Amino acid sequence: MASLDSTGSSVSGRMRSGDLLHTGLVVALLLGVWSVGGLEVSTGKVSHLEAMNGSTVLLPCTYSSCIGIKNLYFNWQYNDNGTMLKLCEGVITIEGAEPRVSVEHERVEFVGSSKRNNISILLWNITFNDEGEYVCFARNPKEKNRNHSAVYTLIVVDQMKEVETTLTTIIVSVLGGVIGLSIFGMVVKALVVHFLLKDDEKNKECLVSSGNDNTENGLSGAKADTKGTPKA
Ligand SMILES: *[C@@H]1O[C@H](CO)[C@@H](O)[C@H](O)[C@H]1NC(C)=O
Ligand SMILES: *[C@@H]1O[C@H](CO)[C@@H](O)[C@H](O)[C@H]1NC(C)=O
Ligand SMILES: *[C@@H]1O[C@H](CO)[C@@H](O)[C@H](O)[C@H]1NC(C)=O
Ligand SMILES: *[C@@H]1O[C@H](CO)[C@@H](O)[C@H](O)[C@H]1NC(C)=O
Ligand SMILES: *[C@@H]1O[C@H](CO)[C@@H](O)[C@H](O)[C@H]1NC(C)=O
Repeated sequence: MASLDSTGSSVSGRMRSGDLLHTGLVVALLLGVWSVGGLEVSTGKVSHLEAMNGSTVLLPCTYSSCIGIKNLYFNWQYNDNGTMLKLCEGVITIEGAEPRVSVEHERVEFVGSSKRNNISILLWNITFNDEGEYVCFARNPKEKNRNHSAVYTLIVVDQMKEVETTLTTIIVSVLGGVIGLSIFGMVVKALVVHFLLKDDEKNKECLVSSGNDNTENGLSGAKADTKGTPKA
């Protein structure tokens, strides 16, 4: 019952998120039609990333605008349990100009380049506390200061666990291989024994039948003999 309930709720949850996605798409389309060529902010195809603790991750974000940019303001924020922490911010005065960036986090490095409309950042030496949502925000004054943002989710996994799981996978596959091979060997052995026994049985049958033939022959011979003796 409990498992049924949980699957039911997860399915409806998925459906709800699907509905949300649809509404989001419709809204995005409407907005897109409403303001053709407006600013777009994107974190790329992958909106979440799993990284090992202690590693350094790239939080990607790009912008594009057909109507052009002027004094584009952008920032990166971290959603720390509801409160938004600003990690860095900058202004791109004109298309192609390198941004003036101020970084407000000791492990954040701005690695973007306005030549490629890139406002990505690096987050160095991540810990489990860095897990969560990162928001790339941009506002183009050319568009009546309309706000644009894209969300990137970071998941931090334990390096040891990662190694353990790969080790476990290797051990399990090796064990599985060995067990599989021994089972295969046993099956082959059983088959061979089975066929050898069958051959033996056939031989026995042949022997028995030939024995019968012999006895029959013997009998007929005996009959012949018995028939012959009275004749003789
Ligand atoms: C992060 O990974 C290291 C292994 O490189 C491990 O020793 C350490 O305990 C991990 N940190 C935390 C907070 O679990
Ligand atoms: C997040 O905030 C809620 C209250 O707003 C608190 O109960 C919870 O412990 C917080 N979680 C973390 C991870 O700080
Ligand atoms: C990241 O960690 C390495 C080694 O622990 C250290 O040398 C480096 O300065 C750290 N980088 C930052 C930005 O904290
Ligand atoms: C943005 O710049 C970073 C650092 O140079 C690079 O690794 C990343 O691939 C770039 N992203 C895009 C979408 O160009
Ligand atoms: C855009 O975001 C800023 C906060 O960063 C807010 O003050 C402003 O009202 C927002 N503008 C619109 C049009 O939503």
